[in-house]
Amino acid sequence: MIKKAILPVAGLGTRFLPASKSIPKEMVTVVDRPAIEYVVKEAVAAGIKQIILVTHSSKASIENYFDRNFELETTLENKKKIDLLNEITKIVPADVSIVSVRQPQPLGLGHAVLCAKDIVGDDDFAVLLPDVLVKANSATNDLAQMVKRFDETNAAQIMVEAVPENLVDQYGIVDVEQAPEVGQSIVMKGIVEKPAIDQAPSNLSVIGRYVLPAKIMNILETTPKGAGNEIQLTDAIAALQTMDTVEAFRMQGETFDCGSKLGYLKAVLHYGIEHPKLGNDFKQLIKELKI
Ligand code: G1P
Repeated sequence: MIKKAILPVAGLGTRFLPASKSIPKEMVTVVDRPAIEYVVKEAVAAGIKQIILVTHSSKASIENYFDRNFELETTLENKKKIDLLNEITKIVPADVSIVSVRQPQPLGLGHAVLCAKDIVGDDDFAVLLPDVLVKANSATNDLAQMVKRFDETNAAQIMVEAVPENLVDQYGIVDVEQAPEVGQSIVMKGIVEKPAIDQAPSNLSVIGRYVLPAKIMNILETTPKGAGNEIQLTDAIAALQTMDTVEAFRMQGETFDCGSKLGYLKAVLHYGIEHPKLGNDFKQLIKELKI
């Protein structure tokens, strides 16, 4: 079973300036909680028991958020604000641990993943990129389905979604015989990072959810710099795919790219109208806008 997940959170978030000048982009709130909480909860819902944050010195607030805050807890307890107390102490279940390791230099996503090598050890693991929120539309989320498929087949799983053809140069793009049905996995023939539009093998883009075998760490150690002069996870997956079966899993849920401002606003709208306490009032507010 996949029990560990790497969340690379060291990126500086230039797409989210000016907010990300002094707030980690992962800590920007979507409704009433930071974006990173949704990603952590997605991992936990897929059975992950250890979250490994690959982080940066400017991002201590992420670690603080998942730590206990004794002063705050004592104050809430004294004031008998038990609902709030429960909410801040139960962000992740007690059997889930959150650890962190630093990425000392911004050498790319592949390098960020490699920074967690010693913590991962010989275990297979998941990777979740925190910019994208994936909202499940069924009881079993997409990552849980990828974990199940990996357990059954031992084939690495790469989550993909179709994007408009003019956007393929912004993503990792997979090469497959034919596009998988939604919720299905299909053997991948190749994968390329941010191809030119006329060279993309398909319009199926890598969404930022991966289930990978431990040995990809060894591959990453010798992966040369690629697109953007960075060590790319995509290139290591391409190398893995020449030795082992790698599959593209076509997601069912809905994605929100919170690394972009419009994607973030869309996420606030969608999570806002479904919020258990605020949802109805928020819908009413939107109606009143009459737009
Ligand atoms: C990364 C990956 C890319 C993937 C994308 C998804 O790129 O390298 O393959 O499609 O995330 O968001 P980045 O957005 O960090 O440039």
